[in-house]
Amino acid sequence: ARVVVLASGSGSLLQALLDEAAGCGIAVVAVISDRDGVAALDRARAAGTEPVVVKVSDHPDRAAWDVALADAVDGFAPDLVVSAGFMKVLGSAFLARFGGRTINTHPALLPAFPGAHGVRDALAYGVKVTGATVHLVDDGVDTGPVLAQEAVVVDPDDTEPTLHERIKVVERRMLVETVAALVRHGATTTGRTVRFP
Ligand code: GRF
Repeated sequence: ARVVVLASGSGSLLQALLDEAAGCGIAVVAVISDRDGVAALDRARAAGTEPVVVKVSDHPDRAAWDVALADAVDGFAPDLVVSAGFMKVLGSAFLARFGGRTINTHPALLPAFPGAHGVRDALAYGVKVTGATVHLVDDGVDTGPVLAQEAVVVDPDDTEPTLHERIKVVERRMLVETVAALVRHGATTTGRTVRFP
């Protein structure tokens, strides 16, 4: 199946998909970011995929950026879009075209601790257990049907980086497993509709 990955940062989750793609019927046909100069772009290039950057600042407003992002993704005719550390909320134009076949990974046990600082917020709250969630993207922020979750115990000495790194280990595995399962059981390439289990 044709997968487009959206990433904004170091791209270690993208790397996990790139590493396992061949073995589970996934073709990462494009990597798209909202910013230049992030490691995710280099990881794409190292895998032979020229990344595409669609910056908000290159467009008159957020809605125009959202359309431009959807157009960029459309050009690759994806079966599935994976948001893997993409730090922008996908808008209505994007979701009109790719809703229902876009998934996101979040470093907390949603609905707890949504938003851009899920790890920091969980630590600040003092939870003993947090974790990772893979979910279908809907028009909310980190809402949408849960596809997979796994708990990660918080260590008393944890800092945001140490806890986030342990969560990312879980996210990488869970994301590959979820995409592989969707490809195996649900994502069909007929037309542009993708049925999820
Ligand atoms: C992941 O924890 C993801 O859930 C969050 O940002 C992190 C991205 O990590 N949105 P990386 O850029 O893939 O290393």
